[in-house]
Amino acid sequence: MTELSLPFKFRYLPVKKFLDMYQKSLEEPEEFWAEEARKLDWFRTWDKVLEWKPPFARWFLGGRLNASHICVDRHVKTWRRSKVAIYWEGESGDSRALSYSTLYREVNRYASVLRNCGVGDGDKVALYLPMIPELLIFMLACARIGAIHTVIFSGFSAQALADRVNDIQAKLLITADGGFRRGKVVPLKNIADEAVTKCPSVEKVIVVKRTNSPVTVKTPKESWLDDLLKDAALFVEPELVESNHPLYILYTSGTTGKPKGIVHSTGGYLVHNCSAYKWVFNLREESIYWCTADIGWVTGHSQIVYAPLAHGAATVIYEGAPDYPTIERWWDIIEKYGVTVFYTSPTAIRMFMGYGEEMVKKHDLSSLELLGSVGEPINPEAWLWFYRNVGGERCPIVDTWWQTETGGIMISPCPGIECLPLKRGSATLPLPGVEVDVVGEDGKPAPMEQRGFLVIKRPWPGMLLGIHGDPERYRETYWSHFPGVYYAGDYAVKDKDGYFWVLGRADEVLKVAGHRIGTAELEDAVVSHPQIVEAAVVGKADPVKGESIVVFARLKEGIESSPDLKKGLAAHIRKEVGPIAVPDEVYFVTKLPKTRSGKVMRRVLKAVANNTSIGDLTTLEDASSVEEIIKAYQELKEGEVKKK
Ligand code: WTA
Repeated sequence: MTELSLPFKFRYLPVKKFLDMYQKSLEEPEEFWAEEARKLDWFRTWDKVLEWKPPFARWFLGGRLNASHICVDRHVKTWRRSKVAIYWEGESGDSRALSYSTLYREVNRYASVLRNCGVGDGDKVALYLPMIPELLIFMLACARIGAIHTVIFSGFSAQALADRVNDIQAKLLITADGGFRRGKVVPLKNIADEAVTKCPSVEKVIVVKRTNSPVTVKTPKESWLDDLLKDAALFVEPELVESNHPLYILYTSGTTGKPKGIVHSTGGYLVHNCSAYKWVFNLREESIYWCTADIGWVTGHSQIVYAPLAHGAATVIYEGAPDYPTIERWWDIIEKYGVTVFYTSPTAIRMFMGYGEEMVKKHDLSSLELLGSVGEPINPEAWLWFYRNVGGERCPIVDTWWQTETGGIMISPCPGIECLPLKRGSATLPLPGVEVDVVGEDGKPAPMEQRGFLVIKRPWPGMLLGIHGDPERYRETYWSHFPGVYYAGDYAVKDKDGYFWVLGRADEVLKVAGHRIGTAELEDAVVSHPQIVEAAVVGKADPVKGESIVVFARLKEGIESSPDLKKGLAAHIRKEVGPIAVPDEVYFVTKLPKTRSGKVMRRVLKAVANNTSIGDLTTLEDASSVEEIIKAYQELKEGEVKKK
């Protein structure tokens, strides 16, 4: 593990002061977080900072606030009313800049549209939209009236959309006539039409015009947004919700087939995110932030929408693909807007590494002050490439570890408040108020430099309220592995300096290009193909995407493997889940290696897919015999596998 000390010039605290602050935050967590919370606008102060009834935490109980007020209203009362809130860049080069006052007007009008559609406090609204300002405005409009939004990534299929809409029983679905992706139109309305036939809870569909594609909008159930805006009021009183009123539900993959609806609060979530944002990204009034994530994921929710806007910052949103129409697109955008903070994923960095540094160096990226990475471990080579070629060897890199469930960043360098040395590939130390550790199988702290499981040892304000409609699954998934601590599902190592190195998932969840995909969810999709009886999905190391998807599928009796069948399976998965789930490799097998108890031996399949040895078998969790595994491995290697 290499070390790199970088003397960054930021408004940081001396190391000792920072470490004291960290220590104090753990000794007096409630005082610490209350002080952070006071920096937000509350209409009623909380009665209690934390109610911790494990595993359920409730922060700032009795406090009342409104997220849209915090993100918009409070800025329009200041000089920031004329400050740009959003720089939006369309894929085809069209652009829009929305000031805080414009955003305020639009959020109010959209909130009025929602009200006029019969949406009220506590109702669920599904947003299936491309990366356009309307998505963000609708999120804030929902928050304004106390409605709970669920953003469904616009790359998901009709089935995936319907599953999520049905799980939350959404009353309203908001979509667009289409979205642009690599110059093509993604027919979102048509996909939504297919989904809605399976969603009885949806009373109304609103359609945003983006691509001018010919779509049918069947009144009265469906309406164009533009028509509804004609009757919209210019002001809607913000609903003052209790701190633990859900702000949103966001689906993420787990180890079983059904995605989990992660529920986030309003108060705790905003407090955590606002604090983390200023510590990690060195908040400055004149900064221009660009987080390249899609708003359909938690990174977009927290780092494009809620944290920057709550701070009155300027945030860049780009609609399209990173390398479309040319591989210079992103660097053009940084140059065009004078981006100062650039936050992206290791997959994107590795993709650009593949194109060579020349195309980056052609651009003036001197506005950049800080770089960030999220979503997967960043390998030291990618870190260095990013640091040298994009950051010009002057910008610190914040490698931020967090999850959909944590709501906000948990482990990361904090150039806004400290100047500890960075290490390439380590997310460094936990944020103030956050206590994490690495434990072994027995739940005891793992020895230094030894791989163990990442755990969070105390509640934190951005912590999920739970899994929508399934408290048992919440308890089981996060709180049953080790008593009293939150199990993150990641492998990690703690080094001699107490720095954390997150190594990847410890469960059956893949990280493909930073997207979190459950193998069980994929297996469900594969076996729903009419010619397949059984399947197992594993990840294969990929030099760019981190992991790629490999499917082992057993065909029904009498069905012959063929290239067409493989293509058909890929199309089927695309339809069931979406393009992000399309496998890179498919193996048709005559049987899957299983333990005596009938469990698929994933380890064997992983070794086959990765062309590695099955390795050390002594740590195998299941009771299957070593010979059994070796036999299965050899059978698969010796020709029973027919590679595509
Ligand atoms: C992984 C994304 C290493 C990890 C915000 C985690 C990371 C999962 C990092 C959550 C990082 C995220 N280093 N791994 N800096 N950040 N991960 O819910 O496996 O989409 O559990 O949230 O991404 O993914 P999610």
